[in-house]
Amino acid sequence: YRLFSLGSNPKLANEVASILGTKLSDIDVRQFADDEIYERIEQTVRGRDVYVMQGISDPVNDNFMKLMIFIDAARRASAKTINVVIPYFGYARSDRKARSREPIAARLVANMLESQGVKRVITMDLHADQVQGFFDIPVDHLISMPTLGHYFYENDLLGSDLVVVAPDHSSVGRARKFAKLLHAEWAIIDRRANDDSHTTPFGITGHVKGKRAILIDDIIDTGLSMTLASASLAAAGVTDIYAVAPHAVLSDHAVSKLAESAISKILVTNTIEVPDGKQFDKLSHLSVA
Ligand code: R5P
Repeated sequence: YRLFSLGSNPKLANEVASILGTKLSDIDVRQFADDEIYERIEQTVRGRDVYVMQGISDPVNDNFMKLMIFIDAARRASAKTINVVIPYFGYARSDRKARSREPIAARLVANMLESQGVKRVITMDLHADQVQGFFDIPVDHLISMPTLGHYFYENDLLGSDLVVVAPDHSSVGRARKFAKLLHAEWAIIDRRANDDSHTTPFGITGHVKGKRAILIDDIIDTGLSMTLASASLAAAGVTDIYAVAPHAVLSDHAVSKLAESAISKILVTNTIEVPDGKQFDKLSHLSVA
């Protein structure tokens, strides 16, 4: 087989290659002055199983287009199979029509990959499990929860005073599973849209007062959900707040918001490579390689 990386997350790709005892295969990926992408696979892939690692992460559209152009090149070069490894599946949050005349972009991404001849997708912590069903080919949906949970065991952070908290209703399933893994209680923050959430703490279902809390979500994007949730937990008398999520998108003013929040520690994975300029004291990464 041949393993390629298109540059969305070179550290993770190299780590995976080293675990497999192999090297990344050579590819020339360039962008012209007008941003058009050029790629050339630099050794034969004829009759080979090709694996390509590329997250659909910032810059989302360029990274996705690089993947599509690679698939075209590999197919025309007679690869036996094309298998894509997408550590962060961007657009997964567009998984349903929440309002009339909206697209389902995750379905579109799935259609585009599949129609170009991709035979298998390997991805992690999809925003919603049903995105797997947008494909008719095999999708290996890996989860980082055991890796994230292990951190709490390893660092002796378990205990009867620990509660896992869903920052909103959409994270309830994830919070329940994580609580089970850590033998902890769980609670839900009753986050509502279009209210005075920036000034008034949300209600909380479950016992959190005097406890240590772990907020768990799938993505930290602008940091708003985690910041608002942490303010509500602090107001409810939580003693220490951890925030856990597989994917650290960290867009917009996420870093300053999270740095100033009531959260004492933020644990993420390396599905997205966080640039040096976005590293800050509270943030720790675990590798999913
Ligand atoms: C949303 O449905 C996701 O599960 C996350 O809660 C969301 O993407 C977090 O975004 P932000 O950090 O911008 O609040």
